Amino acid sequence: MHFDFLILFVITNSQTTSKEEFLSKIDQYLLEDSLLLNNGDKEYNELEKQMIEQIYRDALKRIKNRLVEQQPIQFNPPTYNQTVIDAFSSKTLLNPQQNLTYNPYDLQNLNTTLNDSVCGVLYPNENDRSTYYLVNYTSAQEAESAGAFITHLHNCGYCSTTKDLAMYMFHFDLTSPIRDCGIVSFISYEASLDCIQHSAGLTYNCAVIWLYDALNTRKDCLDICLYDWIMHIPNNVPANSTILNPCIQCDEDKSGPIFKLVAARTRRDSGLLSAINRPPNSIYNITHYYY
Ligand SMILES: *[C@@H]1O[C@H](CO)[C@@H](O)[C@H](O)[C@H]1NC(C)=O
Ligand SMILES: *[C@@H]1O[C@H](CO)[C@@H](O)[C@H](O)[C@H]1NC(C)=O
Ligand SMILES: *[C@@H]1O[C@H](CO)[C@@H](O)[C@H](O)[C@H]1NC(C)=O
Ligand SMILES: *[C@@H]1O[C@H](CO)[C@@H](O)[C@H](O)[C@H]1NC(C)=O
Ligand SMILES: *[C@@H]1O[C@H](CO)[C@@H](O)[C@H](O)[C@H]1NC(C)=O
Ligand SMILES: *[C@@H]1O[C@H](CO)[C@@H](O)[C@H](O)[C@H]1NC(C)=O
Ligand SMILES: *[C@@H]1O[C@H](CO)[C@@H](O)[C@H](O)[C@H]1NC(C)=O
Repeated sequence: MHFDFLILFVITNSQTTSKEEFLSKIDQYLLEDSLLLNNGDKEYNELEKQMIEQIYRDALKRIKNRLVEQQPIQFNPPTYNQTVIDAFSSKTLLNPQQNLTYNPYDLQNLNTTLNDSVCGVLYPNENDRSTYYLVNYTSAQEAESAGAFITHLHNCGYCSTTKDLAMYMFHFDLTSPIRDCGIVSFISYEASLDCIQHSAGLTYNCAVIWLYDALNTRKDCLDICLYDWIMHIPNNVPANSTILNPCIQCDEDKSGPIFKLVAARTRRDSGLLSAINRPPNSIYNITHYYY
């Protein structure tokens, strides 16, 4: 750090400049054939020159990276009003998947690696957006050139419907109501499922995978989660950080990969904020104005 500063002092020898001017000055120096031009009259041999110039160049690059990293342009997810939510709620999906009749958490050796595919909403009739297809596209570019609207990152799954999107928009906090529905599964799984559908408004299959997620988390994370629930530990600890509380971290680790594969839609991959604070760069840059 000290060394970087020293080098720049030698090179620039100037008053304070704006950050932009400073960055462009660094760029100029990086383009120079020789960074040693103004370095007094000490004589270096070729090898020394090359080594010193390499040190200078590396330092300049590090400085530049630091300054650029300090000002990341972050995606600022919007919130959506009732007009948008109602429009997405009332569309009819023309290619629904078969009902989910098994617990994906029972499957062994499921490959949960996700690629850069996107799930697109494709309107067969652009003038009447009441019906739509869900289509997997291998990239955002492919979806756009097909005239589809990206509804979330990764392939489509059971929660990809626009009805589920609308409910993700409407309920800023889905985790708490669904956690409660999971807890009452001691009554029956049917009661839990009804509970998720009624309190979160999700489609049947999306509710089913949320329930399996909750049951799996209860199985694998019960001790951790009981403590957090009893103590009312906030989702993130410390509160404004992006560090998850132990229960949510356990859910993420144990239930997250299969959930992402089967439900497919997550808030982050849909460009939506949530009651769980997440690193801004993990929220996919899309907006939903294709209602
Ligand atoms: C988000 O995407 C839009 C449209 O593609 C683009 O203009 C904008 O710069 C992106 N924002 C960020 C923070 O990457
Ligand atoms: C809802 O949001 C949409 C999209 O941003 C906007 O065009 C519309 O005017 C808003 N409607 C109301 C009632 O605020
Ligand atoms: C899926 O299950 C739900 C709830 O049991 C039922 O209402 C619906 O008709 C089923 N759909 C299909 C395609 O079997
Ligand atoms: C899982 O799928 C990814 C991408 O679809 C692939 O690259 C990887 O080889 C697969 N892993 C296994 C163990 O099959
Ligand atoms: C999208 O891909 C997933 C596999 O990742 C598959 O289960 C699903 O049926 C596909 N959806 C469509 C609409 O093709
Ligand atoms: C992503 O995986 C799906 C199947 O899960 C496959 O159809 C698609 O081609 C893959 N896309 C890329 C970009 O590898
Ligand atoms: C968290 O951030 C909010 C708004 O940014 C602020 O009002 C609140 O005091 C912060 N809480 C903590 C514990 O830092």
